[in-house]
Amino acid sequence: MIEDGFERRAQTLFCESINLEHLASTHGTPLYVYSRRAIERAYMRYETALAARRHLICYAVKANSNLAVLNCLARLGAGFDIVSGGELERVIAAGGEPSKIVFSGVCKSPEDMRQALTAGIRCFNVESAAELHQLSAIACEENKIAPISLRVNPDVDARTHPYISTGLKDNKFGIDIALAPELYRQALLLEGVHPIGIDCHIGSQLQSIGPFTDTLERLLVLIEALEQEGITLEHLDLGGGLGVAYGNEAMPSVKDYIDALTAKLTGRDIALIFEPGRSIVAMAGIMLTRVNSLKSTQDKHFALVDAAMNDLIRPALYSAWQDIVPVTQREGESRRWDVVGPVCETGDFLGKDRQLILSPGDLLAVTGAGAYGFVMASNYNSRPRPAEIMVDNDTAHVVRTRETRSQLWAGEQCLPEAIQ
Ligand code: LLP
Repeated sequence: MIEDGFERRAQTLFCESINLEHLASTHGTPLYVYSRRAIERAYMRYETALAARRHLICYAVKANSNLAVLNCLARLGAGFDIVSGGELERVIAAGGEPSKIVFSGVCKSPEDMRQALTAGIRCFNVESAAELHQLSAIACEENKIAPISLRVNPDVDARTHPYISTGLKDNKFGIDIALAPELYRQALLLEGVHPIGIDCHIGSQLQSIGPFTDTLERLLVLIEALEQEGITLEHLDLGGGLGVAYGNEAMPSVKDYIDALTAKLTGRDIALIFEPGRSIVAMAGIMLTRVNSLKSTQDKHFALVDAAMNDLIRPALYSAWQDIVPVTQREGESRRWDVVGPVCETGDFLGKDRQLILSPGDLLAVTGAGAYGFVMASNYNSRPRPAEIMVDNDTAHVVRTRETRSQLWAGEQCLPEAIQ
């Protein structure tokens, strides 16, 4: 599935005006490539859909935290959803405004809380009574008042992969919606926190709008109950989670998703926050990998490529399906290939049963790799992580250099010689 920012010219795949065969020859493989135009367009779909409401789009940094990606979004006025002190520093380094940052995460460290208080972020999304009290105590020590929202767990089935479903009662996330009113009352009595919002996030890669609207309905009942007690909130944070079509599956558009939610908010002037990650960057990125060799057994054809599960773990971890396309289309006989990497695990595959025409040396693009791609890469099997490129029209910027072998063990050392 080739999207905005990527197109085929004659037989060859381009990212904006850059020929991807040339790019891979210059920078090597595996290689992540992002289209600035595609990122900006995806972000602007949210801005356009929300134009009639007070809103803040807080891009979920975890989806792709490269400084160049954050910087593109910061220039468009985006806010950011962070989950660690590391992400906070990245956002600031990329020119993001602390006053537009919301801090999510089920287990914030005291140091990270302090750092975010000092930076002056917009809101802490609090996930438990214990965290509420801890944050209040830390804020008092720092002579600050932490703006907070409670992340409620609405007990709605997001109907997505169980590893990325977060809004069910037995998930570790959020505060039971039934207990939320009591916790708001407690928050009002604490000196170090000030409740300004309500928050939820029910999961990722949702393929239908129903679970989002069901969640909103439950949140509205809570908001009304709080209002009756005189607790008024400035914002409603509906999290992220809208899915993308990795293949030909039907997916609601950003407009349909936002329209369905705002339709339920007619007459209510509460500011809206969204925390989209995947739907902004997934389809704006690909990972390039080269076929090292081909191997056939009695039952299978394997294409052995130079990228592996350490470079892109989604297929191995979630059995996720991402399209794999040749960068240059060729003539010949097609076969069903398992596209597999060099890592010593049977789970090391990028795709299975893919109908492709292949020869050794061919360049392949794994599409939909802009979200949860490089950020989840590891050095397993002592493999340096790939370089990242951001294409801006006819310029390819190296926005992260390829790791070197010596970087792999920087910080490690051998034991001093044993005393005889
Ligand atoms: N807000 C919170 C609190 C989150 O936990 C997440 C994602 C988001 C926003 C952004 O969700 P998105 O719009 O990207 O769906 N590694 C998995 C996805 C993990 C999502 C974790 N939380 C994958 O590759 O599918």
